[in-house]
Amino acid sequence: MDVREKIDILKREKRAIILAHYYTSPEVQQVADFVGDSLALSEKAAVADADIILFAGVRFMAETAKVLSPSKKVLLPVVEAGCSLADSCDAAELARVKAENPDHLVVSYVNTSVEVKALTDICCTSSNALKIVESLPKDQKILFVPDRNLGSYINRCTGRDMKLWDGACLVHEEFSAEKIRALKALHPEAVVLVHPECKAEVVALADYAGSTAGILAYCARPEVQEVIVVTESGILYEMESRYPDKKFYLVEPEKGCERCVSCKDMKLVTLDNIYQTLLNESPEVVIDEEVRTAAEGSIRRMLGIMV
Ligand code: 13P
Ligand code: SF4
Repeated sequence: MDVREKIDILKREKRAIILAHYYTSPEVQQVADFVGDSLALSEKAAVADADIILFAGVRFMAETAKVLSPSKKVLLPVVEAGCSLADSCDAAELARVKAENPDHLVVSYVNTSVEVKALTDICCTSSNALKIVESLPKDQKILFVPDRNLGSYINRCTGRDMKLWDGACLVHEEFSAEKIRALKALHPEAVVLVHPECKAEVVALADYAGSTAGILAYCARPEVQEVIVVTESGILYEMESRYPDKKFYLVEPEKGCERCVSCKDMKLVTLDNIYQTLLNESPEVVIDEEVRTAAEGSIRRMLGIMV
């Protein structure tokens, strides 16, 4: 029996659902019950009618699912599937900076550990970051954690002066303005769609900057026929499935750069480890209850502002 059929049988037997991010490999997205950006995935996790959620993605996403659905078993096929951006903010260090800046609200991108979320006032994703920050009083001092690129993008768009944590995604930081200009010279009709985790000089070249879901939605515009894709390559599967007649160009990775264009952590999830994880109901995401409840407030406040 094919591994996809075996996964299907286990899903039915165990009342399990698979949530996958757009950056996972095509075969993983194909067995998922829902594929989305990090905001849609957290919304889905909050209302999922299932006993088990298998998260095909990275650890912070699975932790968010567990925080929102504590009575469900949340499985993460590869415990080592982390995120360079989440790793750039350590909770003990954040606690120290918070103590030094007691008048600042902490706004955290969801790409953070559950311990960092527990120290956060309100979370955001790249889909709703502008809306969340705009919802706060104009004179409110804000510490934005951990992505300096998304933070400076928000500062530029809103005219705020948020204090920025010095973190970044190693995948998105590698996109170079030079390579994008060269691709644009080859395809002058193509629009440039950029994830705001990229550097400011790259975001400056964008016709649109936004989350993975925002980028996909932009591709639906009838006038958009060619796209230069400036985010992780896994999104290409959904783009080409939704818009088979349009042309998509990926930016070439830098020579010798292992993390460029492809997020190695997202690619750790495979059909085989999904099957084994469902079969054994392990590895399971376990979070200390005090940390979970502290983190829950910051995520629910974000979801509350979004409805
Ligand atoms: P989205 O919120 O756009 O899905 O992005 C998540 C992510 O990890 C980007 O690198
Ligand atoms: Fe984290 Fe970057 Fe991978 Fe997104 S692409 S999961 S921010 S390392």
